[in-house]
Amino acid sequence: MKTYLVVFLGLTAVILLGGVMNMGTDTPLVPYPDGYRSWTHVKTLLLLPGHPLYEGFGGMHHIYANDKAAEVLRKGGNHFPDGSILVFDLFEAPQQDNAISEGARKVTAVMLKRAKAYKETGGWGFEAFKGNSRERIVTDPVTQCYNCHAGQAQRDYVFSQWRP
Ligand code: HEC
Repeated sequence: MKTYLVVFLGLTAVILLGGVMNMGTDTPLVPYPDGYRSWTHVKTLLLLPGHPLYEGFGGMHHIYANDKAAEVLRKGGNHFPDGSILVFDLFEAPQQDNAISEGARKVTAVMLKRAKAYKETGGWGFEAFKGNSRERIVTDPVTQCYNCHAGQAQRDYVFSQWRP
């Protein structure tokens, strides 16, 4: 009887532990960054045809930072605390009458810092939403996003820098 109990408790422990460990490896989804249009505008960049990244990133993009991320950028820091969010808002850039304007929104890309949850991608969760929708388009954040941002490891994987 005692042996059965020991075996039973042992199995229960293994099952529970397995469950907890499994939870730890599930990468949480990066939520849509509600309200980011009211955050700090960091910079704008226009990427024209002929640029090597035109295929994926061509057009006009604006970068936004929430308060936590903006504070680090303003100080020229290189460590972003958990909860920092950066947004890369990309638009078509049609040229007409000698003016280049914002066209349709192509994608809204997001980086959310949660060091433990996203440790495989430098502590940042990477996600991108198609057009004006909430449709997620990142299927493999390592190859689609992180590998390129990895070049900025010394700046916590962030490219954008603050200008006054
Ligand atoms: C080929 C390289 C490359 C890939 C791949 C890439 N990025 Fe970036 N990303 C950049 C560069 C360069 C910038 C800075 C743009 C600027 O200076 O305006 C940037 C900027 C950003 C920013 C603003 C913060 C920062 O680092 O300046 C976010 C958010 C972002 N990218 C998210 C993503 C997401 C999400 C993916 C994957 C879907 C992705 N990126 C894939 C190169 C890349």
